[in-house]
Formats: sequence, structure tokens, C-alpha cells
Amino acid sequence: MSFSDQFFRALGIAPGDRRQLNAFAERSGVPVPRLRHYNDGNILPSGDDLPRVLVAGGITELELMLAMGRLTRETLNAIQANAATVAKLLQAQSESDAGPETATAAPRIALETELGRLYQGDCMNLMPTLDSDSVDMIFADPPFNLNKLYPSSINDNLKTERYLEWCEAWLTECIRLLKPGGALFVWNLPRWNAELAAFLNGRLTFVHWIAVDIKYSLPIQGRLYPSHYSLLYYVKGPQARVFHPDRLPMQVCPHCAGDLRDYGGYKAKMNPKGVNLSDVWWDVSPVRHAKYKRRNGANELPLKVLDRVIELSTHEGDLVFDPFGGAGTTYMAAELKARRWLGIEIGPTDDIVQRFAEIEQDRKILADQRKELNALFPAQVRAARERTGWWTCESVRIADEAKRQRALNLG
Ligand SMILES: C[S@@+](CC[C@H](N)C(=O)[O-])C[C@H]1O[C@@H](n2cnc3c(N)ncnc32)[C@H](O)[C@@H]1O
Repeated sequence: MSFSDQFFRALGIAPGDRRQLNAFAERSGVPVPRLRHYNDGNILPSGDDLPRVLVAGGITELELMLAMGRLTRETLNAIQANAATVAKLLQAQSESDAGPETATAAPRIALETELGRLYQGDCMNLMPTLDSDSVDMIFADPPFNLNKLYPSSINDNLKTERYLEWCEAWLTECIRLLKPGGALFVWNLPRWNAELAAFLNGRLTFVHWIAVDIKYSLPIQGRLYPSHYSLLYYVKGPQARVFHPDRLPMQVCPHCAGDLRDYGGYKAKMNPKGVNLSDVWWDVSPVRHAKYKRRNGANELPLKVLDRVIELSTHEGDLVFDPFGGAGTTYMAAELKARRWLGIEIGPTDDIVQRFAEIEQDRKILADQRKELNALFPAQVRAARERTGWWTCESVRIADEAKRQRALNLG
């Protein structure tokens, strides 16, 4: 992570001035690499380093925490208790900081269907024009600030606090737009979603942190293999207006369709409609094959994720909004599932427009995927199990009935 040198600034060390940094290290007894670590990660020193840094910097712990934006509950409580005074101070500060108004380009319509509308432009210019409490579900998959090249040439390498500030700005608008009972989903790396969840916790109701099991980078020395994306799920108000999760098929051997574990006496208790959807989604594959990719370059989510999220949280006719269009996966899923939708992409929108011109391809993918849902054994698996003599819901039911009859006859 890279921060804007809040730690160095608080201690009076000019960023980039090695002489000052070395002198501070000598004065405090805290070695330069550790000082850099605190600065680069905006990490509050602890243990013996803390008093050393405070003395050498001539600063109190509270001032250092405030300068670094690392507040404890206790500090927050103190701020709360003095809210009026603090607000006056901050108000005066933000008025003196305010720069000249910058012109904002109005988004232009790039595509319209009977159900939806796609804009080309910046979502931060579109959202303020939309009505409060007007959207049933929002799905947001923003850039991850990983210095990726997007077709839009947005800056994907912001300082950490700038990125988080930007995320908080569009999240604040999303929260305003959501209807009571509406759902917000945020797809991001765990590292960012941990921060965004802390922001959302005080504004919406937490429902789930969904781990979507997809490997997203190469193994890194000294780290666990990053293997899940985080999908935050929040609702506005105490509970979701719609909660309708799909049920999944039971996992079977991909070769013989046989059991992967021993279900023993539980077979009869398993719901023929499938297994409950959990907060770990293990059955999602990344869109890698060129045949399925709608756009070169930046990430594109599998249709399966959006199908699942829309099914879970909306009814037909509901309004879905996604502020980060990309290849238009949310809009396509909404269109195919008869939801109204609204979207915007800051970069070129041609790929999304083209995708809608070839909508039959996505329709088929979606239909094929949905055939596998809401049955413990989808048709093909069931047929394979019948062929190889594995149990099915039907065979278990018949065996149970026979057992019951035998018991009755004996009685
Ligand atoms: C990770 S991609 C979204 C992928 C999308 N979920 C999909 O499955 O195709 C993020 C997209 O947001 C766009 N974007 C970034 N900043 C934006 C902004 N301020 N307004 C609108 N779109 C933005 C980027 O150009 C990029 O295409």
C-alpha cells in the first residue's frame, strides 16, 4: 500500500529527505527501515518504538493518531462528545481548502433497451442526478487500484487514502440511491473490502462477506496463495426486501458422477431441490477463454456471479444499477433476467453495445447454467448416477418407503 507520508509529516520529516530521516532514526533509536515501514503502510508504531518516536518527534500519541487517521474507539468517543466544536473546526478548514468548481461532463446515452440504459461517462457525474431511494439493487466492481491498464486510461494507481476516499464518495451515493430493503454488493480484493466494510458498517446492515473462490494472482513468497475475491453484501434498513438464493447441485465426481464423501444416513434428509447456497462460492470459474471474453484487458466477471446475485436479491421488474460497466456483465444478466437496469462506463462502451447485439450468446450461457441449479442432481448427473447405480433422491425415497412398509408388516 502506499500512503501520502502522513507518518513522516506528523514527525516533521520531509518526505524524500534522507538526511532528515537518518537524523530522526539516530535521535529516536528506531532504525530507518522500521520508520519507512510505519510510513509506507501508515502503521501506528507499537511497543518500545512508540514512546521513542513520540519523544523524538515532540508529539503526543493522540496527535500522531489523529495525523495518521488511526483512531481508537476512545478517541472517537471523545470526538463524538465534542461533535459541535470539532464540526465547526473542520467546517472552517474545508471552506478554506475548497478549490474552484471544476466542469463536469454530462454522461451521454450509449445504449437503450426496453429494460435498461447505459451511459458513457463518470459515475460520479451520473449518480447525483438520480433520485434517492430509487434503486432495488446495486452491484459495484470498481477498479482495484492495482496499476492495471484499463481501456479508459483511468488512474488505477492512487495513493491508498485517495483510493479509499474515492470509494467512500461513490459508496455514499450508492447508499443514497438504494431503496429501503435494497441490497448493495461490492466486489473487490479482501484487502480493500476490509476497509470498505468498516465504512459501510455504520451506514447499512451487514449481511455477508462472500468468499468467491477464484485464484487471482500468482503465489507470492512468504504469503498465502490469494485465492478468493471478496463480495460484500449489505442491505439498507434492518432486512432485505428480497432474499431468494438459488440452491446448488451436490458436488459429485466429475468422471463417474459418484459421491465425493460418505453421506451415510443423511441421504434421505438431503433436499431434492439442492444444497443451500453458502457464503463460500466454490463453483465460479474466471472468464479466461477468448471465446467468452467480451473485452480485451481489464476484468470481466462471469455471468454466473451476476445471475446469482440478481436472483438472490431482486424480483423481475426491479431496478439494478452498476456504476462500473466494464464489459457490461451486470447489464446483460439483468436484461436476460427481466430486471430493469441502469449503468455507466467511463471508458469506451462499444464492447457492451456489441455484446447486446449478440445477446443470444449470453442467453444460451445463462440458460445452460440455470439448468444446473435448484436440483440436487441436475438431469445429466442424475442419468449418469442411475446408469452407474449410485443413489438418487428417488432411489432413496423408494428404499425408505420399502423399509417403512416392512416395519408396518412386521408390526
Ligand atoms: C473491474 S471493471 C468492471 C467489470 C464488470 N463488472 C464486468 O464484469 O464486465 C471496472 C470498470 O469501471 C470503469 N470505471 C472506472 N472508474 C469509473 C467511473 N468513475 N465511472 C464509470 N466507470 C468507471 C473502468 O473503466 C472499468 O471498465
